[in-house]
Amino acid sequence: MTPAIGAAVDRVDGPAKTTGRARYSAEFPYDAIAHAALVYATITRGQITAVDTGAASAEPGVLAVLTHLNAPAMKPPPRESPLNLDTLASGTSVNYLNTDQVHWNGQPVGVVVAETHEAAQRAADLVHLTYQPLPFTVDFAAEAANAVPQRGNMLQHAAGKKGDADAALAAAPVSVDLRFTTPCHHHNALEPHATTAVWDGDHLTVHDSTQNIAWVRAHLAHKFGIPAANIRVVCPYVGGAFGGKSVIWPGTILTTLAARVTGRPVRMALSREGVYRATGGRQPSVQRVALGATRDGRLTTLIHTSTAPLGRVGGRPEQITSVARHVYGAENIRHQQHLLQLDTISNTISRAPGESIGSFALESAIDELAGKLGMDPVELRVRNEPARNPIDGKAFSHRRLTECFAVGAEKFGWAARAPEPRSMRDGRWLVGWGTAAAYHPAWQFPANVTVRLNADGTALVRCGFHEMGMGAATAQAQIAADALGLSPGAVTVQYGDTDLPTGPGAGGSGQTASVARSLVAACQKLRKSIGNPAPGESYAQVLARTGRSHAQAAVGSDTRLGTALGQVRYMTRYLRDQRRWVKAACGAQFCEVRADNDTGELRLTRWTGVFDVGRVINAKTTASQLRGAIIMGIGIALEEETLIDPRTGRIMNANLSDYHIPVHADVPRIDVHCLDDPDPTMPLGVLGAGEVGITGAAAAIANAVHHATGRRIHDLPLTLDKLLYRDHPAI
Ligand code: MOS
Repeated sequence: MTPAIGAAVDRVDGPAKTTGRARYSAEFPYDAIAHAALVYATITRGQITAVDTGAASAEPGVLAVLTHLNAPAMKPPPRESPLNLDTLASGTSVNYLNTDQVHWNGQPVGVVVAETHEAAQRAADLVHLTYQPLPFTVDFAAEAANAVPQRGNMLQHAAGKKGDADAALAAAPVSVDLRFTTPCHHHNALEPHATTAVWDGDHLTVHDSTQNIAWVRAHLAHKFGIPAANIRVVCPYVGGAFGGKSVIWPGTILTTLAARVTGRPVRMALSREGVYRATGGRQPSVQRVALGATRDGRLTTLIHTSTAPLGRVGGRPEQITSVARHVYGAENIRHQQHLLQLDTISNTISRAPGESIGSFALESAIDELAGKLGMDPVELRVRNEPARNPIDGKAFSHRRLTECFAVGAEKFGWAARAPEPRSMRDGRWLVGWGTAAAYHPAWQFPANVTVRLNADGTALVRCGFHEMGMGAATAQAQIAADALGLSPGAVTVQYGDTDLPTGPGAGGSGQTASVARSLVAACQKLRKSIGNPAPGESYAQVLARTGRSHAQAAVGSDTRLGTALGQVRYMTRYLRDQRRWVKAACGAQFCEVRADNDTGELRLTRWTGVFDVGRVINAKTTASQLRGAIIMGIGIALEEETLIDPRTGRIMNANLSDYHIPVHADVPRIDVHCLDDPDPTMPLGVLGAGEVGITGAAAAIANAVHHATGRRIHDLPLTLDKLLYRDHPAI
């Protein structure tokens, strides 16, 4: 049988989605379902002094209007502990509707339940709150100078040092010292966050649009004081998430509360604006990249620093400067992240958090240095390819960055590039070619899996992982098929349900490898229990021959991995592995832009991305993932920007007409190529293919824009005003 791994298998979730049979979290039908809508605070910080729900309650069809005055008590979010990953699930530290304090402009301060979605929305608008405002700090640009150095933790290096980077910069024959800014971004999944909650006594079923059903279960168990075993979270499909559905936001909690209070099944589908108010976005950043080099293009020093805000009520720092640890073999390196707190909602992970915007700065700076050296930007990168991880000398488990550049340059036709900016034209268009390195670390998380093989030649894989459209279930079917000698079509994969063995969250591009590790082990166990097949015989045939109808194996167990002890064991093993190896996917981005010489209009016309993502499980979904990732990079480069009013912290473009994301007309043909070379240390050699395609993409575009126009823009997004006017305002 030809191996299933590596084949371009169609997505198993495709037919359900294209025919509309796939049910999303706001689409589960229940008798007597009621609808909930949030009330959002309109001040930035302060205390609610009065609540008038008269008009809201009088609206036809309204069942309940809940605020801090009448909402039942819930437990505040748990204290975070790295030893119990479940405690990291909360989006913010606010105990919604159990407090009269407002911590950000748009914080949910009430929930209305009604017979229809429309009645709930309208009544929510009629809830009148009076506030005592308190002073606040929301202006990132004004506050950036007050940031303090970030402390690292087990999972993130916030700083690092090798040699004396500052002295080396002063002594460098050729150098650049640059400041970059990147704005806040929002995820804008096609499916806004939605929850349907149904109580049956002390048992709870929740359909939640989430990247982590286990976290939703753990968090709701904590908030409502019931055993996790009483809660079932079901999420077979997610209509995009990009990090925005990785932690628990107020909609999930308050829908569950609304169902508890009204005794009805309750559904809440956030409006697009609601997603901006009630869920976090990406940290904006100010970054410095300073590089020094010898005249023949050897990096002597690399400095990368960042400043970014957290919410005062929570958030997690992105690893913005971590790329500086890994990509270039400078003799001296210093990187340091800085943080400050603002009175805004917590940030959250978003589309290659850290590396996406960090690589914009670093890879733009490398290009600028290449210009100063009069050296080809590909050649400069290849010349500084390190043999070991630059900052600490650790071994790379796998590193094929130079091959990515070689293959990419060949496929793109890079050799024909005229090096001078503004030297390539096509009629009125200035043409520019840009390149950048892509880099994203490989993550792994615990996963419990069971596999069952039936004597009829079908198999069932069960694991509570997540399908957000990446092809996650299809990949696992291919893996199980090869491990059991079946065709992928004979394998059913169940996922997206906490009644299944607990799986990993979908994040960090780590889900496929995480599940694969346990799935492969479970299949090995299963085969062992079945016994050796005769030549030409399948494991299923052995079962049939021996009169058994099925065999089953499990790897991991909820009682072990679900506990703090199980997680400590997992993390200890994981961190030991991390001390030994630096593991990452990488790649080379090449793009062509056209710039209108008079209007500054930018058009992307060509893209070639060559990636080392380790082994490719599914040629079709991997290429599709990487194309989608590059499109996210295009958004970061050219369009995306959450505009935050510096006077109030209120998001000004909380909608898809003012927040721009790439549409088809913005996206050129994207050629994606993977080296398909397994990493020797990762499960099945998989390094993760989701996010690496985002990294480097914005820099490749900025570099191409510079090549086309001679204008170097350090502030994202690269909009017309910045191209046409030198003194554009920067944050
Ligand atoms: Mo991703 S930002 O890990 O969903």
